[in-house]
Amino acid sequence: MRTSNSTSTYTLGTVLAVVLLMSSCGGDPNSPGVEYMPDMYRSPAIEAYVDFGQDPYMITEDSAKVQRNRQGARLPVAGTIPFALDASKAQFNMPYPYPNSNDGYEAAGLNLKSPIAMTEATVEQGKVIYTKFCLHCHGEKGEGDGGVVKNGNYPTPPSYTAALKDLSEGKIFHAMVYGKNVAMGPHASQLNKEERWLVVHYVKYLQNGGKMQRETAEATATTAAVN
Ligand code: HEC
Repeated sequence: MRTSNSTSTYTLGTVLAVVLLMSSCGGDPNSPGVEYMPDMYRSPAIEAYVDFGQDPYMITEDSAKVQRNRQGARLPVAGTIPFALDASKAQFNMPYPYPNSNDGYEAAGLNLKSPIAMTEATVEQGKVIYTKFCLHCHGEKGEGDGGVVKNGNYPTPPSYTAALKDLSEGKIFHAMVYGKNVAMGPHASQLNKEERWLVVHYVKYLQNGGKMQRETAEATATTAAVN
């Protein structure tokens, strides 16, 4: 009796296993069937810019819903700044305090000063960025005669050596953050703050007709202090 009992249990088990195995076949030929540990097939790793809810292999609306609650690129938490490995660069991650308004523009002009010294090296670095981002409109010497202006496709920007000769560094920076009127777009997403300050030095260099005016002043100050 004992033997026949365990034999029938064994047979029943086999039949059940076969039925279970077969039950994953049939139905929708595109369905992967029952998944054991689906994370093995679909990596839960979060990737930037992936819309997880659109995963074509999602088998049920419920699992798609869970996926939709995952996000790739998220906005930073309000009030936080990126971590700077180099402590001296942390200041460039601080939020920009001046609003995009006339008052903000005037306040930036009065109070905003470059944290980077104007030296030949920083002017040279600024020139590289200016050449890539500004020259096609503002021109090689900042006279408002860049390529797209000469083509007749763009309004002429005012010249750094004439109308904008005395524009303060804070206002130059401000113009890069928010743009100017409709003809010049903001450059805050293209250039980080450090890069913007380097460009400011180059614009000042152009305002001075290609001279290092400020460095001379600083050099004189240092000499005076030493003496
Ligand atoms: C698409 C063309 C274009 C590009 C690119 C461009 N500008 Fe301008 N920019 C203009 C025009 C046009 C004006 C004048 C806008 C006005 O006054 O209505 C202007 C104005 C300015 C002003 C004067 C702002 C003020 O307060 O009056 C500064 C400074 C300036 N640009 C700097 C830059 C710098 C630096 C770059 C590169 C990072 C740059 N611009 C890129 C077209 C451009």
